[in-house]
Amino acid sequence: MEKFNIAIDGPAGAGKSTIARLVAGALDFVYVDTGAMYRAVTWKINSAGLSPEQTSEMIALTERMNIRLVPGENGQMVYVDGEDVTGVIRTADITGNVSRVASIADIRRILTVKQKEMAASRGVVMDGRDIGTHVLPDAEVKIFLTASVQIRAERRYKEIRDSQPEITLERLERDIAERDRMDEQREAAPLMQAPDAVLLDTTELTVPEVVERILELCKSHVGGGT
Ligand code: CDP
Ligand code: CDP
Repeated sequence: MEKFNIAIDGPAGAGKSTIARLVAGALDFVYVDTGAMYRAVTWKINSAGLSPEQTSEMIALTERMNIRLVPGENGQMVYVDGEDVTGVIRTADITGNVSRVASIADIRRILTVKQKEMAASRGVVMDGRDIGTHVLPDAEVKIFLTASVQIRAERRYKEIRDSQPEITLERLERDIAERDRMDEQREAAPLMQAPDAVLLDTTELTVPEVVERILELCKSHVGGGT
């Protein structure tokens, strides 16, 4: 089949990574989770003990670091300078700091170059916040996934309640709303729907239903439709 690129953007917990991974599997495309790259940079900055005002040191660290995304049996593995950071980049500490790091324009510039390279040979499903607008503006299929903040918090809560029982649904909802606000209001490549993206509200849709809709959109692309 002809190779093309699919951009999936949207707010936290809308289902981007779950759905992007399944769509990539169905088409035999490569899945790229750009949120994991911003999380990896945040982890590196925290590990180096940099304070929030040390922006030039953060940028220099980002320039030097090597981030590798490797498909694994239980999802995508993330390596920073050879170290497996797959689990540690998902902790509440990193989640609480990532949007601040992601608002730094020079850090976005460095990661955007890497992301464009990853998609250069096409056949990529890439998810994030600015993929359809900045990273892959020429992606053949663009989706903006969304859902109410309540349902997004509930979905996250179900995922973490066993491993992190101290985190309440109310706190998750607050944290998600705050992260959305920071991602939407930053100056550099804010979270927004590209004018040519298809909006899919997943509040009332199951994962297989969303995957099916995206595969239909891909078929109409391959068939020369919209
Ligand atoms: O999975 P979840 O929705 O919690 O977030 P993520 O996709 O792992 O992304 C974490 C954070 O990275 C987001 O809240 C954004 O601040 C930032 N991000 C970004 O700015 N641009 C992207 N293309 C991807 C993520
Ligand atoms: O990547 P993002 O933060 O946008 O979301 P995710 O981590 O892929 O999805 C968050 C949770 O919502 C996962 O447990 C998904 O299985 C679930 N989900 C759902 O229940 N129904 C949907 N239509 C989409 C996602």
